[in-house]
Amino acid sequence: MGRTSLAVKGAILLAAIFVFLKVGVPLFTAPLPMSLVWLYVFLTACGIVVYGTLTGESSESLFGTVFRFLGGGGLGGTARSLRLAVLVLFPLWVGWVTYDDLAPQTEPPVENRVIHPAPPGWFVGLANPVPNTPENVMMGKGLYAAYCSPCHGAMFNGNGPASDGWNPPPANFVDSGTIAQLQESYLFWRIKKGGVGLPVEAHPWKSAMPRWEVELPDEWIWKIIMAEYAGSGHKPRTWE
Ligand code: HEC
Repeated sequence: MGRTSLAVKGAILLAAIFVFLKVGVPLFTAPLPMSLVWLYVFLTACGIVVYGTLTGESSESLFGTVFRFLGGGGLGGTARSLRLAVLVLFPLWVGWVTYDDLAPQTEPPVENRVIHPAPPGWFVGLANPVPNTPENVMMGKGLYAAYCSPCHGAMFNGNGPASDGWNPPPANFVDSGTIAQLQESYLFWRIKKGGVGLPVEAHPWKSAMPRWEVELPDEWIWKIIMAEYAGSGHKPRTWE
């Protein structure tokens, strides 16, 4: 065994695992939830302790440094202050985390509304009658740019120039919580009937979404729906 103590090697390994899971993994696939990252770090720590306690020598190498540091015997000036800082700050930190967990929150409660209420029966399961050709998607994108992008944004992310100040804000179609969850028939209903067409369980909801049936023929709406999916990179939900 080299001169670096097991405690230091272990700390480096833990940090490396954390950085790999937090920064490395998202380069290739979806980011991991923090709870999973901590779980892996915890399991690695368990592995280090198991490895460290295999022999008396390795336990000394793993815990010796830590105990000597916390015990304070024979420490130099800087190490002494560092030890004092750890002994003071650690309990404070634990206290703060506990307080933060238990203290009553002062944020307003989430409004108790249904975000995706059930559409009226006759909209359910309608299929898009317009064939999904490049020309139709192209026309849909043109119509989208003209009628929808001021609010929902040219990049389909709800960030259009007229999107500020609405509550709820214009839907972000790129977000996985909006049209990625919905069927084309659902969009057809929401676009045709707009905010005023929302049923009571979706209130209180002062939606600025216009009622497009007064302006756009059905065929245009179906083309815009195709364009929204093409532009946001999502696929409509289907029954299969
Ligand atoms: C005046 C701004 C405005 C314009 C213009 C507008 N919308 Fe909206 N839209 C909203 C707002 C605000 C919401 C969120 C509240 C709601 O769902 O009613 C919304 C919601 C939606 C939803 C529901 C998404 C979901 O997850 O439930 C769809 C679909 C939609 N808009 C499509 C369109 C289409 C297509 C057009 C163009 C024909 C359009 N919008 C134009 C403001 C607008």
